[in-house]
Amino acid sequence: MKGIVYVSKAIEDFTPVTLHQLAEFASNCNEEHEITGYLYFEKKYFLQYIEGEKGAINRLINNIKNDARHEVLNVQISTDIKERKFPTWHMQQLTKSSLIQINMENVLMDYMRNCSKPNSNINEEHVWRMVDKLSGFRKKLSYSMG
Ligand SMILES: Cc1cc2nc3c(=O)[nH]c(=O)nc-3n(C[C@H](O)[C@H](O)[C@H](O)COP(=O)(O)O)c2cc1C
Repeated sequence: MKGIVYVSKAIEDFTPVTLHQLAEFASNCNEEHEITGYLYFEKKYFLQYIEGEKGAINRLINNIKNDARHEVLNVQISTDIKERKFPTWHMQQLTKSSLIQINMENVLMDYMRNCSKPNSNINEEHVWRMVDKLSGFRKKLSYSMG
């Protein structure tokens, strides 16, 4: 699989409504093409991560680069994505306030809930990596709070 992360500068004025419409549109198209990832917008700049089958990602990034609503500034590509990083997000719109709510417990819970559906496989290594990260994070927090 292929993964791309890029930064772009908005040319059009994006409002919360037009941003939401863009994310909804993207999510529907991406679901059809089995593409997952997220879209973050802050101070006129986009940060987007997309992952999926190579052909689908190549087609999408071409469309995105040709989209006159923004100018793509920096693109980083990985052809070495063994497993989806955001299996449940077809195009999650992230804002500052949503980021505050996305703590690691929520991510772990989201992952484990999705994996409890029939025919889905859970990657145990993933789960334990998240638990370990959480533990490290909590330790640091309790030290700094005395
Ligand atoms: C910041 C930004 C992010 C976008 N992300 C996606 C996306 O994830 N998926 C998608 O299908 N289109 C996305 N689009 C829209 C595409 O650029 C393009 O309009 C869409 O693929 C339809 O192209 P088509 O009409 O030529 O098929 C995005 C556009 C912008 C400006």
